[in-house]
Amino acid sequence: MGIKMKKIKFKNKPIACLTAYNKFSAELIDGYCDLILVGDSLGMAYYGYSSTRSVRLEDIIRHARSVRKGIKKSIMVVDMPYNSYKTKTLAIKNAKKIIKETGADAVKLEGGKNIQNIIKHIIKNKINVMGHIGLMPQRVVSKKDYHVKGRKNHEKNKILKDLISIQNLGVFAIVLEAVKVDLANEVIEKSSVPIIGIGASKKCDGQILVLEDMLGFYNKVPKFVKKYMNFENQARKAVKKFVSDVKKNIFPLRKNIYY
Ligand code: KIV
Repeated sequence: MGIKMKKIKFKNKPIACLTAYNKFSAELIDGYCDLILVGDSLGMAYYGYSSTRSVRLEDIIRHARSVRKGIKKSIMVVDMPYNSYKTKTLAIKNAKKIIKETGADAVKLEGGKNIQNIIKHIIKNKINVMGHIGLMPQRVVSKKDYHVKGRKNHEKNKILKDLISIQNLGVFAIVLEAVKVDLANEVIEKSSVPIIGIGASKKCDGQILVLEDMLGFYNKVPKFVKKYMNFENQARKAVKKFVSDVKKNIFPLRKNIYY
């Protein structure tokens, strides 16, 4: 079934999206978020890899199957990992595999002009596609590549070209990552499909963050993340208290014991 998301100028409320890598986090956010992404940020945020490039098709499928179990209401999108959509043949084979084995509603691919034929082919085969332009983590090979896009003219032109190349192919929305706000606003203005921002602009049709980032799992996060709680601090306190209780023989309590 085709996914329809309107530009917010036709609808009042921006689209809220978060990532999930397993059933339990999916259950936590299902119904609140319009869209849940099984992102390949999995590689860095969950496995501790230095880039998203190490995530393989089998990894994303395994996590997406778990996420599916936790979603009843939200739209579920799964990232196509690095190298899984190098050619049209490979892309359609893997997109079909993701949809069939995980029950996802759509797949997401990073790229613009360079993958327009691939996106077109997947959509022609009746699979919903979400685009991803701006900073594309699958292209990042060293830390210096993790920088805001759009400060240089050639970056700006490329991002606008990428938008034009994919927006008319039938993608239902596009993620716009880490771009200067004036460029983001130009992208939003020129786009005919909803733009979901991450480090982009308040004017985007929606916003997405990595769940663990906004819950404060990690000390160091990009500037575009707002931490809505400090999970790391609270978890450390809880762990210390548990260890201290065990050492002092306070845990288990009477109510934790089977009689
Ligand atoms: O992999 C991911 O989690 C993403 C989002 C952060 C947009 O692509």
